[in-house]
Amino acid sequence: MKLTIVLLALISVGVVVLTPRTSASSGDRVLNDQLIAVLNQHEFTGRIGSTLEQRLGRKIDNRLADLGRLAFHDSLLGLNDDNSCSGCHAAPNGFGDSQSIAIGIENNNIVGPDRTGPRNQRRAPMILNNVFFHSLMWNSRFAAVSGDPFDNTAGFQFPAPESFTLSFLPHLLTAQAFIPVTESVEMAGFSAAVPDTHDGIRDVVVQRLNASTEYRKLFGRIFSEVKAGAPITYEMLGRAIAEFEFTLVFADAPIDKFARGLKNAMTDDEKRGALLFFGSANCVSCHAVSGKSNEMFSDFQMHVAGIPQINPSVGNVVFDGPGANEDFGLEQVTGNPNDRYAFRTSPLRNLALQPTFFHNGCFTRLEDAVRYHLNAIGSAPSYNPVVAGVDADNVEQLPASATMNDGELQPVALDTSLLSAQRPDVVAVRSGFRRVELAT
Ligand code: HEC
Ligand code: HEC
Repeated sequence: MKLTIVLLALISVGVVVLTPRTSASSGDRVLNDQLIAVLNQHEFTGRIGSTLEQRLGRKIDNRLADLGRLAFHDSLLGLNDDNSCSGCHAAPNGFGDSQSIAIGIENNNIVGPDRTGPRNQRRAPMILNNVFFHSLMWNSRFAAVSGDPFDNTAGFQFPAPESFTLSFLPHLLTAQAFIPVTESVEMAGFSAAVPDTHDGIRDVVVQRLNASTEYRKLFGRIFSEVKAGAPITYEMLGRAIAEFEFTLVFADAPIDKFARGLKNAMTDDEKRGALLFFGSANCVSCHAVSGKSNEMFSDFQMHVAGIPQINPSVGNVVFDGPGANEDFGLEQVTGNPNDRYAFRTSPLRNLALQPTFFHNGCFTRLEDAVRYHLNAIGSAPSYNPVVAGVDADNVEQLPASATMNDGELQPVALDTSLLSAQRPDVVAVRSGFRRVELAT
């Protein structure tokens, strides 16, 4: 019997017995063979993590990474003196947000559920495995034109004023590390003392580093010119932060182990979930694993998925649209109204570490997020942020009509029979990615 038919039977009755089995092991073998076949078809090796140093062309410099880790956690980098990278990219959440929509400057100095302060526009994504992402941010506004973050030959594209000027840097993440300190709402603040230009802000950040005996000592250990008396430069800081991010590779999920030949790394339910994902549910058409996706479960393309729009009642970013209460996504970058509400396909690794989901954290339970995603058109009118667990005091909801660009909406589950998926199937889809991979 063809697998799709079996899966449809499975979905409609909501049970997990596929076919009468003569023995457990023969049933497993069918499942294993099916999964091996789809993984091969999608060129999924489960070995992406081990390619890091070869693609970098060198070993990780642990001292540089340690220095980057320190800087990442230091509010000295924030000219408003109250935020660090880690304020939004918090270690307990896979270096992602504890909030639905990020809180930047003017926070209460707390990271976690009790963080308060004016909100920005989007959820801070986890920065795990970012070394393999060829486009960054929810609207892909930072990108390696080559489609390879390790390859700067075609340039690294950023919005103005940086544009292509950061292309001399060795990796897209090194270039990205030049940006957050220049953002008023994230780290720099609005004080009159903050320079007007991004370069001016970076100059003040390195002046602060150079004024610190401790930082001069730490940079001097790695950069001989600093030891000899030369100033610490922003490029050195960017290299350190990126090196720290290079160490955040956590790509050894059960499905990676399975692909490497460890058949027992996944339960049968997880294997069935994976078969849905790669098969009839066709999640993989966007959450891609082959080629330039680097096995990250994203095509790194932009799609209108009809995710509910929520917007903060207390915030310091002016939102889009006539009511200044919408997020236009890709249109912010291209200026093209056809790109309205398009966001980058989320890479799905380590999802279990996220407290909230989608670009604005409009769901707090993964199962709810997937159920919505399976039928955005049908689900949008009844979306309720309070029911979804979003902090209702800080986040107001937009009418459903503002959640999607009708003409462009792309159906998520191409096989519409999945819309009636019963709980075990959704759970199975989820559990294939369930593994919390952060090492001790
Ligand atoms: C105010 C909270 C905040 C601070 C502080 C912050 N970030 Fe972010 N970061 C975000 C948000 C929100 C996004 C996504 C923004 C978007 O897509 O528009 C993001 C995106 C990123 C991404 C891209 C992730 C991806 O999946 O594409 C990287 C890398 C990153 N930040 C690194 C840093 C570094 C390094 C620092 C410190 C120098 C920093 N961030 C400071 C909130 C923050
Ligand atoms: C048409 C392309 C497309 C298809 C098909 C698709 N997705 Fe997505 N998915 C997206 C986009 C785009 C986002 C991010 C949307 C946003 O946040 O605005 C996303 C986000 C998600 C998220 C939230 C991740 C996060 O970081 O919060 C999950 C979970 C998810 N998808 C699972 C699935 C599953 C499971 C399937 C198959 C049933 C699927 N997707 C099919 C495009 C797609």
